[in-house]
Amino acid sequence: MLTPGPEKQGVLAKVGLPEDQEPELLSLRPELLKEYIGQAEVVETLKIAIQAAKQRREPLDHILFHGPPGLGKTTLAHIIANEMQSSLTVTSGPALEKGGDLIGILTHLGEGDVLFVDEIHRTPKTVEEFLYPAMEDFAVDFVFDKGIHARSHRFNLQRFSLVGATTRVGLLSAPLRDRFGIFRSLDFYSENDLVKIAKRSASLLGVRMDDGGARELSRRSRGTPRIINRLLKRVRDYAEVKGDGCIDRKVVDAALTLEGVDGKGLTDLDRRYLKTIIEFYNGGPVGIEAISATLQEESDTLVDVVEPYLLKTGFVLRTSAGRKASAAAYRHLKMPRQAGLF
Ligand code: ADE
Repeated sequence: MLTPGPEKQGVLAKVGLPEDQEPELLSLRPELLKEYIGQAEVVETLKIAIQAAKQRREPLDHILFHGPPGLGKTTLAHIIANEMQSSLTVTSGPALEKGGDLIGILTHLGEGDVLFVDEIHRTPKTVEEFLYPAMEDFAVDFVFDKGIHARSHRFNLQRFSLVGATTRVGLLSAPLRDRFGIFRSLDFYSENDLVKIAKRSASLLGVRMDDGGARELSRRSRGTPRIINRLLKRVRDYAEVKGDGCIDRKVVDAALTLEGVDGKGLTDLDRRYLKTIIEFYNGGPVGIEAISATLQEESDTLVDVVEPYLLKTGFVLRTSAGRKASAAAYRHLKMPRQAGLF
């Protein structure tokens, strides 16, 4: 029933996808569940669902992944298609501008194929409405003419699996959310899992790295495999130009300090975000729109990319009145606290 095939990626599919898709970084992605490090419960859920679907010769249930960027949502979609021995079609919510864009993709899917929709929360409402019957009944309804002449025609689709990914599960409408059979959140990776990922990637790239180097890189990668793989390449360059090519703790420290990545993995934008709360708003509480206006950064970028890790590490606290910098943030930035603030 399910035959392996190449990834289909039309012109539409490329719009709005993350830009860190260089071939060398892509080659570091695990291709099968047994190669995947971390997210043990998600992996176990998928193993069971995939085996069950194969035994019943059915397509996999629709799956929704949510969590911050870089934690493996896209990688898992590729793995799912590989494990199901089916073709993967990749698109994203913002790329689906009109109903016709989605219908074009849906009508070309084969039995058991996987359709990956990244940033699914950004799918326009008019397009989302085509997804409901497609997900539930494997059908799309075309409407011809308007008003009293309007006629509808139902077109049956092959049974496919939708894999959706979102950084903002709260923005997903209830009817869409309810149509996913499997709903899993991806969390930041533990340092030990990141060490394993760093070593795996170094070995795939043919780079020599000792345990101290792998641990330092893991500590400074914001719990995120995508960041570890990107930083590993910068550290490799540094080791080859300034050293003997071998990555140890000192090389990681020197290379990442040069990149503006500090001992806790915070970047320049993270530090500017924290300093804005502390210096402009007395440590908070302050609303995200005020921080965004002062920093001149999109509030979506702050909410999706910057805040999740700062919240996870406790540098920022979210209260009903707004964001606050924690005592740990003051200590980390070596900034004095005003008396009576804590
Ligand atoms: N590369 C990026 N993410 C990975 C993961 N979770 N496991 C193994 N290698 C990876």
